[in-house]
Formats: sequence, C-alpha cells, structure tokens
Amino acid sequence: MPRIPIQANTASTITVDGRELIAFGGCNYLGLGHHPDVKNAIVRAMGFLGVTTSASRETSGNTLEHEYLESELAGFLGMQAAILMPEGYTANLALAQALGSPAAARGDDPGIAVIDEKSHRSIRNAVEAAGFVIADYEHLNAADALRAIRQHIAARPGRRICLWTDGIFAADGSIAPLPELLAALPAFNSAIIVDDCHGFCVLGARGRGACEHFNLRDPRIIWTSTLAKGLGCYGGAIAGSRELIDLVRFEAGIYKGTTPVPPILAHAAREALRIIDREPHLIQRLEANIRRIRRSLAAMGLPVIDTPSPVMTFVLDSPARMRALYDHLLSGGVFIPLIDYPNGPAPLYFRLSVCAMHTPAQIDYLLRVLESSLARTASPACAPRVAG
Ligand SMILES: Cc1ncc(COP(=O)(O)O)c(C=O)c1O
Repeated sequence: MPRIPIQANTASTITVDGRELIAFGGCNYLGLGHHPDVKNAIVRAMGFLGVTTSASRETSGNTLEHEYLESELAGFLGMQAAILMPEGYTANLALAQALGSPAAARGDDPGIAVIDEKSHRSIRNAVEAAGFVIADYEHLNAADALRAIRQHIAARPGRRICLWTDGIFAADGSIAPLPELLAALPAFNSAIIVDDCHGFCVLGARGRGACEHFNLRDPRIIWTSTLAKGLGCYGGAIAGSRELIDLVRFEAGIYKGTTPVPPILAHAAREALRIIDREPHLIQRLEANIRRIRRSLAAMGLPVIDTPSPVMTFVLDSPARMRALYDHLLSGGVFIPLIDYPNGPAPLYFRLSVCAMHTPAQIDYLLRVLESSLARTASPACAPRVAG
C-alpha cells in the first residue's frame, strides 16, 4: 500500500490532504509522544542543550542527560544498569557485537543464537552480523526452542546459548511465552534477550513490560528496546547486569561509532518515564481500550487473538476485499493500516493498534464504521492466522 503523507497528528488522529482521520495505527501506545509535559521537556532542554551532540559519547558527545536517563531507566526496569543506543535497531546490533566480542578476540565464533522464526529483522540482522550460529524455532513454541537448544548443545558442547525474542511481536500482536522460554534455557552460559519494543510502557501493571507481565526476574534476562514507541520519544537502550553494560560500552563498535540520541530527547524520555509512574491511569485506559476493541472485533466475526497486546491484526478472504475495506474506512474517516510488513499473519493484513488516548467516542465511531464497511465489502471475514 502507498505511504500516507501525514501533515499533522495528535495521539489519536492524523491529518491527510487537509482532512482529519481517527487513526488506529502506529505505536504511540500511551500517547506520550504528544503529552504536554513531554513536549515541554523538549522546549526546556532546548534552553541549555543543542539539538545534537554531533559526536559519539566516548569522544565529546556525552551529556548528563544521557547518563541520568541510563540510570533512571535501569531503576525503572529494576535492572542493574542500562546503556543508550541511537535506536532500538542499533540496540540489538550493538548487543550482539558485544556478546560476540570475547569469542571474536580469540578468533572463535560467538556461540549459538536461538531465535523465534518471526523475530524482528533487527534481531536476525544483529546475530548474523556478529557471526552467531543461528537456530530458528517455531513462532512462540518453547518446546521447539528447547529442541533447538538440545540439538546445538549436543553438536557443540560448551557453547554459549543466547535466545532472542520479541516481547510483543509487532506484526501479529502475540506475546512471547517468556517463562517457558526461560525454562528451556540452560542454567549457565546462557542468556535470554527480550526485545521489548512493543511491551515496554504497555505490559505489566506498572508498564515495565513483558517481564513484569509474567512477573519474571532472572539474571539471564537482557532487555533491549526502542524509546520511540510506548515512551513516545526517540532512541534505543539495552539493560542488564553492570558487567554486561560495561562490555557493550567498551566492545560494541556501533555504540562507540555513532552519535547518540539527541540530548533534548533524552531529557524528554526522562520526563516520559516519570509520567508513567505519575499517571497510572494511562496504562489503565490503554488496557480498557484494548479489552473493548478486542471484544468488539471478535463480536464482528474477526476472531483476533485474546492477549492484552495493543496490536490486533486481521486478514479477510482476499486482498481485493481488504483494499476495498481500507478505502471504505478512509472515506468514513478512519485509518487502519493495511500493510505488508514481514512476519504478519499473511502477506497483506490489517494492523490495528490501540492507544490510551482513544476516547470512548472515537472507539464507538471506529466500531460503527468498521461494521458497516465490513458489511458493504461482502463475505464474512476469515480467521486471522496467528497463534496465541
Ligand atoms: C521488535 C522491534 N525491534 C526493534 C525495532 C527498531 O526500533 P527503532 O525504530 O527504535 O530502531 C522495532 C521497530 O519497529 C521493533 O518493532
């Protein structure tokens, strides 16, 4: 589908060709990208910082804002330490570089990366670039992950096992079975890397993400994320043990050789973290909106999977019908992205996402327009092809 040139937006609307549409797309799940206190934080930081550091942090581009954000983020997550990266994508690349560096220094390969077959492409790129031996397991299937781990341990005893997964999968809204994956992991010489780009600020009663959702604490857990989705800012980060974060800082070329997240945005991200704790109603509203929309979609014959994720994907019986539905929705003033992003339930699918800032009236309107558009585009929807 063609890209939409957005002229202006709020947390729940976009303006295209001078027309305002109610938008159920994107990943600004709490609306923090438009929160007045986050916007004010940027203005405030402009008073004492420039737009960019124009240099990497280990040369002359380190600011107090970066250091404060790292320690506040680690505290927020309950991890020992965190390190910022330019984006979520580069967080995975830098982490794989760092994890692979001790072995690379010995002229050895870095071990085995066991990855969900539908992992985000940044994970696959990261482990490929760092030279890991890659073992895919079936999407969300911890028993298959265990099979892959056993097979590789038998073939290459003593190798470190790093299991990588998304927390929430962006393209189908499913949640990784983290407790079962952790149970499949060897007790020693192993790590589970949770890319929580879509779970951070969303899952768990306090928005700490997928690990809070499952109430998991384990020294083998390493966390990576973007700061551009639930947190509404920009940048990426890795969190884990102090030892790991030092390894990333000293060994990851991607960290050393890039300009960091603009410091004014680091300042804004600090404010966004505080808002999550100060305004717990945001997470509660998001949960309520998710519950309501998911139930209503199911009642319309779109049997979306039953998870607390703000991402709901569905396919209809033909691409032509999906294009017709998309056009009907747009002409009714509702935008739901119809995308061909990798790892979805079909080559072309609707990805509806919910935000805390969607009002009950906007949701009523969505449901009314969606129901009538489905009826006008004929035959009933077929089931989404995603696993829970
Ligand atoms: C699971 C996942 N990992 C990594 C990224 C990359 O994050 P960023 O956009 O900050 O580079 C994304 C973003 O789309 C994502 O969905």
